[in-house]
Amino acid sequence: MAVAALVVAAGSGTRAGGAIPKQFMEVGGQPLLCHSLRTFLEHPRVAEVMVVINPAHAEAYARATRELRERARLAPPVHGGNTRQQSVRNGLRALASRQTPPEVVMIHDAARPFMPARLVDTLLDALLNAPMERDGVIPALEVVDTIKRIDGGGIIIDTPPRHLLRAAQTPQTFFLESILAAHERAAGLKVECSDDAAVAEHAGLKVGVVAGDARNRKITHPEDFAWARDMAREERP
Ligand code: CTP
Ligand code: MG
Repeated sequence: MAVAALVVAAGSGTRAGGAIPKQFMEVGGQPLLCHSLRTFLEHPRVAEVMVVINPAHAEAYARATRELRERARLAPPVHGGNTRQQSVRNGLRALASRQTPPEVVMIHDAARPFMPARLVDTLLDALLNAPMERDGVIPALEVVDTIKRIDGGGIIIDTPPRHLLRAAQTPQTFFLESILAAHERAAGLKVECSDDAAVAEHAGLKVGVVAGDARNRKITHPEDFAWARDMAREERP
């Protein structure tokens, strides 16, 4: 079964606050995006990697990816949209319109540079080899804090039991045909979701969870870069 990675990198990184979008900022001598791509490009079970970019960043993208090893498996970049959901949809459409579309897609945030290779195997095994039928599988972490649901006025509505809560990560892994249909449906209904699993849930798909990894943290705020630099040093001392 052919597997493609779809890495969304079309955001502007507003919260990270740098002079350039966070995915192009250098960590350990390489743009963040290169770290995020490397695990997929070097993985034996991933046939192809497609990146979704903002057309305004085309030059930065070309510069960032020029030196990558294994770049033969990198498809030409696709243009993103105003929201992450639109960017993913554009990428899924591009994958589906290829001559031989992949059956499975792993949708990943470029802002998660240290996703361990083993997670790719865990996700693919859970989707393809698990006894229970699922339409998708995502990595997620148990939460340590007690999570409150609040109303618009900041008053607590309730406290979901912590053992039933998970913090979602990427790569979120689906059969291409079903996640594309779910995205088209959400777009048609003008439903905005914060991850692809929510898009799938909305369409009634069954999405499983496997254990995520703390190293797979998303770079969001300026202080996350200090952590990323430490990680890069650990990876390649
Ligand atoms: N993303 C995208 N297209 C968008 C918005 C986000 O491809 N229109 C991507 C980002 O590049 C990132 C991932 O989705 O890799 C997760 O989004 P987030 O961490 O929110 O990144 P940004 O939207 O760039 O950051 P911010 O929300 O702080 O502006
Ligand atoms: Mg964002």
